Amino acid sequence: MPHATESTLPSGAAPADALGTSAARARSEVLEKQIRKEPGRFRVLTGDRPTGQLHLGHYFGTLHNRVRLQDLGVEMFVLIADYQVLTDRDVADNLTGHVEELVLDYLAVGIDPARATIFTHSAIPALNQLLLPFLSLVSVAELRRNPTVKDEITHSRQSSVSGLMFTYPVHQAADILFCKANLVPVGQDQLPHLELTRTVARRFNDRYGQGHSVFPEPEALLSRAPLLLGTDGGKMSKSRGNAVTLAADADETARLLRGAKTDSERHITYDPANRPEVSSLVLLAALCQDRSPHEVADDIGPAGAGALKKCVTEAVNEYLAPIRARRAQYAQDRGYLRQVLRQGNERANTIAEATRNEVRQAMNNHY
Ligand code: TRP
Repeated sequence: MPHATESTLPSGAAPADALGTSAARARSEVLEKQIRKEPGRFRVLTGDRPTGQLHLGHYFGTLHNRVRLQDLGVEMFVLIADYQVLTDRDVADNLTGHVEELVLDYLAVGIDPARATIFTHSAIPALNQLLLPFLSLVSVAELRRNPTVKDEITHSRQSSVSGLMFTYPVHQAADILFCKANLVPVGQDQLPHLELTRTVARRFNDRYGQGHSVFPEPEALLSRAPLLLGTDGGKMSKSRGNAVTLAADADETARLLRGAKTDSERHITYDPANRPEVSSLVLLAALCQDRSPHEVADDIGPAGAGALKKCVTEAVNEYLAPIRARRAQYAQDRGYLRQVLRQGNERANTIAEATRNEVRQAMNNHY
């Protein structure tokens, strides 16, 4: 799989170091080597908000990487963050449906419930209980400073900001620390939350650990995946109608990609800085075909945008065909989906209760 370097990111991306990205990237390279050497040393927690079906941006951004880590032998927890949906909206619409869609997407891409624990945080009382002591470890000023939360408040359509919006990063610390995960694969927007999680772990250990660590300080594994744009050239997002979902059929995929924004230059090149829309399409074809984007662009060259779109459509549909077939098969069996969640939640509950008991001991709640 070709990996993009910093310079291939679209020019609109956040300045590389605003969030400590370059240090995290360097550290991630070291971690990658350790994972290949000793996968058994790592426990990964990752997750998604259940707000809709996952799309190609999620796939090449994180899902593909989760399956890779799972297959390397890393222990995996996959969280469906159902409470976190309520940070920027009053009511979580069709929550059960969205949760089941996520489970379907996970199973379809190859997350294996025999090896990975798939769970919903609302079903894990002892995880949620950690929120109270954790909140006591952070200041209001720290919560206010979080750049990702600030950005989400700016883009929220709610008329007022809820308490959950400010405190969900602490809840996210509980998501990660309840199972003592030591590795969290993230995109750069999640780095402030991970930093807060490390702070919570450190302060808990200092205040209550009596010389030993109750919690590890988990590390970020920054995704090496390049950024794909939506078909309108903006951020890829289901709600903008500019994303090919894993669940879409071949015709829908063709329709969406046929309408993709390109530019007026006929000759196709791979030049993300100057031609973001065309380059994102080239990159998508390249990812699906496991080729370099330059090679794909050279092949199409003078044939122009029409040929590029045809090539991308075929590449995507071919790549997704087995994933879509598996997805359709699992969708027939809602009972199985519920069983996957029930088993995942049961396992997460056992682990959360053990951690919560340890926390109660450490905090002198001996009654
Ligand atoms: N904040 C993540 C997102 O919006 C979802 C999430 C919740 C998460 N808890 C987490 C991710 C813990 C990693 C670890 O996508």
